[in-house]
Amino acid sequence: MSTTAPLHHITITRPDDWHLHVRDGEALRTVVPHTAAQFGRAIIMPNLKPPVTTAAQAVAYAGRIRAAVPAGMAFEPLMTLYLTDNLPADEIARAKDAGVVAVKLYPAGATTNSDAGVTDIRKTYPTLEAMQRAGMLLLVHGEVTSPDIDLFDREAVFIEQQLQPLRRDFPELKIVMEHITTKEAAQYVAESDPFLGATITAHHLLYNRNAIFTGGIRPHYYCLPVLKREVHRQALVAAATGGHAKFFLGTDSAPHPAHLKEHATGCAGCYTAHAAIEMYAEAFDAAGALDKLEAFASFHGPAFYGLPRNSGTITLKRESWTPPESFAFGEAQLKPLRSGEALPWKLVA
Ligand code: NCD
Ligand code: ZN
Repeated sequence: MSTTAPLHHITITRPDDWHLHVRDGEALRTVVPHTAAQFGRAIIMPNLKPPVTTAAQAVAYAGRIRAAVPAGMAFEPLMTLYLTDNLPADEIARAKDAGVVAVKLYPAGATTNSDAGVTDIRKTYPTLEAMQRAGMLLLVHGEVTSPDIDLFDREAVFIEQQLQPLRRDFPELKIVMEHITTKEAAQYVAESDPFLGATITAHHLLYNRNAIFTGGIRPHYYCLPVLKREVHRQALVAAATGGHAKFFLGTDSAPHPAHLKEHATGCAGCYTAHAAIEMYAEAFDAAGALDKLEAFASFHGPAFYGLPRNSGTITLKRESWTPPESFAFGEAQLKPLRSGEALPWKLVA
């Protein structure tokens, strides 16, 4: 990347999104083109209803995603399986052969479509052993689900109660703590051995929990793990912009129909795929660290996953633009984060 101050353009190696929800059916036609316009590859979350739990289902789902990529765009979905209490260990070899790259652990009840998730991590040990042997990554939604634990403490408690014992029992299993939101998680990942990495979303770099309550309750800022205090946001910005190979881009873009977010029990998930790299550029720019964006967005993820970097580039320009109020989303509407609100960076090529 070339640097002259003040920067008006930046060109970086085409980035990847290491944590993405695209849903299925009609929804794919809205959201897949947004991601494919920016990213070379994305790790596709398996929390469909019912979840993606077999190699054959993952292959079929990848085909439906590819069919939604606009002509002329090169985009590769990287598929994952959903860990349940009884995902058979021998499915791991089939998944590996089918090109599946990771398995996702949702503690049962932790988030959207996690009912089929793990109730007791020990039940999954034979499968985790097969993954460690096969070199298949484990992606973790790192929150405990106990109603006794304060919602804002669930990530820090997960590290102590679940992640530390798990890493002791599987020292050579590569684990990604997905969408970290706290200084405790950033510190734990930074200090751990090279088998642990973490993704960070754009919205957790840009916002603290005040965003959910500014001028009234704002459901489009509600996601899980929930936005935290400012001190945590600052720790995440320091981790993302610090040049540390353990931290990489994962949007956790999670589309929901607007009427289910603007609801008495609104769904968790922020939609950011329409402007993801622009939002990361904004956060890195605010930290005076645009020169660190390329490594975070385009180098650290492939290195952790053992994959090559993308070959092309993208260019962002310092130019104000305003995302639309909503996108058609099947029969419903999808309200993106920053809808109707100007963004300072624009993807131009
Ligand atoms: C995600 C979703 O909607 O699928 N929601 C979210 O708030 N992030 C699930 C998840 O990643 O927790
Ligand atoms: Zn997610």
